[in-house]
Amino acid sequence: MTNPNKKPPYRTHNFLGYKIHHYDHIVSTNEIAKETAKKTKDERIVILADTQTEGKGRLGRLWLSPKGGIWLSIILRPKLSPKEALKLTLIASLAIAKTLTSMFELKAEIKWPNDILVDGKKICGILTEASTRDYNVEFAVVGIGINANIDLATFPSNLQDIVTTLKHELGSEVKLKALLKTFLQSFERNYTRLQKGWWRPLLQEWKDMASFLGEQVEVSSSSEVLVGKALDVDDDGALILRLEDGVLKKIVVGDVTVRRL
Ligand code: BTN
Repeated sequence: MTNPNKKPPYRTHNFLGYKIHHYDHIVSTNEIAKETAKKTKDERIVILADTQTEGKGRLGRLWLSPKGGIWLSIILRPKLSPKEALKLTLIASLAIAKTLTSMFELKAEIKWPNDILVDGKKICGILTEASTRDYNVEFAVVGIGINANIDLATFPSNLQDIVTTLKHELGSEVKLKALLKTFLQSFERNYTRLQKGWWRPLLQEWKDMASFLGEQVEVSSSSEVLVGKALDVDDDGALILRLEDGVLKKIVVGDVTVRRL
């Protein structure tokens, strides 16, 4: 039997209708968010951790999550089909890019589907996982990792040329609480608009911050590497690539590398 007097292993805060469960350290905020989502019908719950011991990246990669970063996952119950779950990644990346631009005057760019870049280097990644029921999203977990107050030197040397941190870009530490609040405000605006069906203007805003559109790119998935021009992102958030032989290809999963000559 569960003890009703037992204190939960996290502190709680409320902000803008979001309930924040703040842990010191956990395995992965996405994993705890999925467990939490199965025990409640609520949404807008944020699982936040100071450190993660096994942060998850896309395509089974490990995500380094030392103290100083923002590691969080948002539990949502959107009215979306499974195919549309990618829209959550897009509205989250838009909110991050806008937050970094407005708070720190950084030129943040979005790289499809889930990377936020500053100075061409990755400063934030997003991992959205959805549980589906009867052809609908039952709940989704949008996991976000922001390299904030972290020394670049703490990353392995093979990553130091491709990732960056806010501390490195700004030369000083940022206020994590203010960053979290500004992001949640921006995310909430986007999520409400998405729920109201205002997807097109959101997508347009996203495209305006997307650095790779119109560029020659390489897209790698687990099965192939495709080369072509990143023409557009369609209504479902899928990448439209024009291959070198002129054929158009719609891509739902993959990693984009811009091939600047
Ligand atoms: C990527 O590969 O770019 C996605 C990285 C996502 C990392 C975040 S950190 C918070 C949340 N919890 C996880 O285990 N992963 C995501």
